[in-house]
Amino acid sequence: MHLIHSISLLTLAVATLAFPNGAPRCKITESIIAAGHKLQQGSLGLVMTLPATYTPGGPAIPITVAAANGSAVSFAGVLAYITPGNIMDSSFTAVPIGTPNVPNAGGIKQHVGKFNNLGAQNLRAQTAAVCTAQNVTNDNAASTITHSQPLTAKTPFTIMWTPPKTNAGQVTVNMVISSGSSRTPWQIVPSGQIQSTAGAAAAAAGAANGAATASTSATAAAATPAAKKTAGKKTAKKNPAKAAGGAAAKVANAAKAAAAKAANAAKAAAAKAANAAKAAAAKVAQKAKKGKN
Ligand SMILES: *[C@@H]1O[C@H](CO)[C@@H](O)[C@H](O)[C@H]1NC(C)=O
Ligand SMILES: *[C@@H]1O[C@H](CO)[C@@H](O)[C@H](O)[C@H]1NC(C)=O
Repeated sequence: MHLIHSISLLTLAVATLAFPNGAPRCKITESIIAAGHKLQQGSLGLVMTLPATYTPGGPAIPITVAAANGSAVSFAGVLAYITPGNIMDSSFTAVPIGTPNVPNAGGIKQHVGKFNNLGAQNLRAQTAAVCTAQNVTNDNAASTITHSQPLTAKTPFTIMWTPPKTNAGQVTVNMVISSGSSRTPWQIVPSGQIQSTAGAAAAAAGAANGAATASTSATAAAATPAAKKTAGKKTAKKNPAKAAGGAAAKVANAAKAAAAKAANAAKAAAAKAANAAKAAAAKVAQKAKKGKN
């Protein structure tokens, strides 16, 4: 009894985002942070301000967290990383690892690019072992960052981020901010997307992946407690069956639309490739003919 009690206390302490020397995790998982903080997520009124694009191998760009109303909000802790795709990672970490038909269940594994000038802002790269333990592959040690000591930071707060050399396509900025230690408010800042000036990560394959990701995301989003709560809240009182059906239909439609879009892109890419192959074959045939003559 005593031992179990100490173990759970230890787990909670270790899971606290506002642990003085940095978050002990490499992924943003709402339920785990809530347990660590002994407090459900609240709003600190924070939003992200991001450039529209990055250039693979190009210059660093500013990632800014600000109060929506422009005020200076003080905070003590942060965990941040950037993932490929357009879905906030916490919608994937809300789905248990290994959930069938949700490839990113448990979180996207790849964290891309590199945050800069960490020391000057009392930030540090997340410990490699912490990321490895959660199956995260960081492009660089500083792909995932946290605070190195309790911050006395105020919004707007900007961290420079150097994009990866290899095109990652559209990326999503993931960030959680804590105002202090246990039982103090914290917020997963609504994620923002940055487009790549080099376009999607890979033409036809990218489109197919996009379709898979889109339907996965829809599934993942629907599976999150928040989505369930929202779906329930809206119409549950009037008609619970209708509410559930409505939410499911919405998810299915979103997935269908995304899949159709991706399929079209894939078709176009395939047609282009087929034409190119045809042209090349014709050229070869012509050459062969010439050779014969
Ligand atoms: C702005 O938002 C912050 C965070 O939600 C809040 O604490 C503050 O009172 C707000 N200030 C004004 C002037 O509305
Ligand atoms: C890490 O990956 C292994 C092998 O795929 C899996 O069994 C394990 O559950 C994963 N753990 C985490 C924390 O993602």
